[in-house]
Amino acid sequence: MSTHAESSSTPDRPGSATPDPTAPVLEIDQITVGYGGVPAVRGLSASVRPGEILALLGPNGAGKTTTLLAAVGALGLMSGTVTALGDPIDRRIERNARRGVTLVPDTRGVFHRLSVSDNLRLARRRNGPDLDTVYQYFPKLKTMRGRRCGNLSGGEQQMLALAKALLANPQVLLIDELSLGLSPVAVQDLLPRLRSIADEHQMAVVLVEQHIDLALGIADAAIVLHHGRVALSAPAGELRSRRDMVEAAYFGRTVEDLAS
Ligand SMILES: Nc1ncnc2c1ncn2[C@@H]1O[C@H](COP(=O)(O)OP(=O)(O)OP(=O)(O)O)[C@@H](O)[C@H]1O
Ligand SMILES: [Mg+2]
Repeated sequence: MSTHAESSSTPDRPGSATPDPTAPVLEIDQITVGYGGVPAVRGLSASVRPGEILALLGPNGAGKTTTLLAAVGALGLMSGTVTALGDPIDRRIERNARRGVTLVPDTRGVFHRLSVSDNLRLARRRNGPDLDTVYQYFPKLKTMRGRRCGNLSGGEQQMLALAKALLANPQVLLIDELSLGLSPVAVQDLLPRLRSIADEHQMAVVLVEQHIDLALGIADAAIVLHHGRVALSAPAGELRSRRDMVEAAYFGRTVEDLAS
């Protein structure tokens, strides 16, 4: 995969020459965002540094997808700001993507009629890594490169979705339910690879995930959303031993609330 220093020289990434390499590359500040003037997420703040994984958790309808869509500029903000790689995120989603802010949608985004290698070739970007680089992360995809994607298993399709996203050379990667429809075993295989990729390339990741323990196992920090509000925000290490707090937050409550 090409280095971030290499990609920061492109004019499309004006803010990517961040002087402080440990400064957040994604900053979400007090955003309220929704549909038809009705907020679905209210007052959410979060920040992610290079190499960090933030797990975005919460029950169905909590506002996780809405948050990711707002972060890539696909939804207009009612208030608040999103800053990525030093520049505000606006509604020009293609430009945001070129700057290195990449979304892996929960629909996987693979072309079923095309082969694995054609899907990957379509996703390649100037200055981005080549196919061999992503095959190193997902050797199984190399063995399947001639197969039509419609014939892949769910887990293999998710591998392909992640591989396609990596070809865009992201610095901020937002992933919506990578494990949708996958067995815990398949998720156990996929998430540690994501951890290694984030470490190796100092990629900031926001991971929406239903498998709470698996997500907390690889994340640095976690936010639990409930009805569009942050019910809990803490280092993942703390929450690994406080599942009671996470579960309470899923109900929009604190542990003390549940005890009373
Ligand atoms: N296009 C839309 N128009 C109107 N309301 C929407 C739209 N998309 C989502 N919503 C509403 O916004 C709220 C948040 O939805 P969102 O999809 O962000 O939740 P989620 O946490 O991703 O849920 P899930 O776990 O089911 O994917 C929900 O009440 C949902 O019904
Ligand atoms: Mg969703």
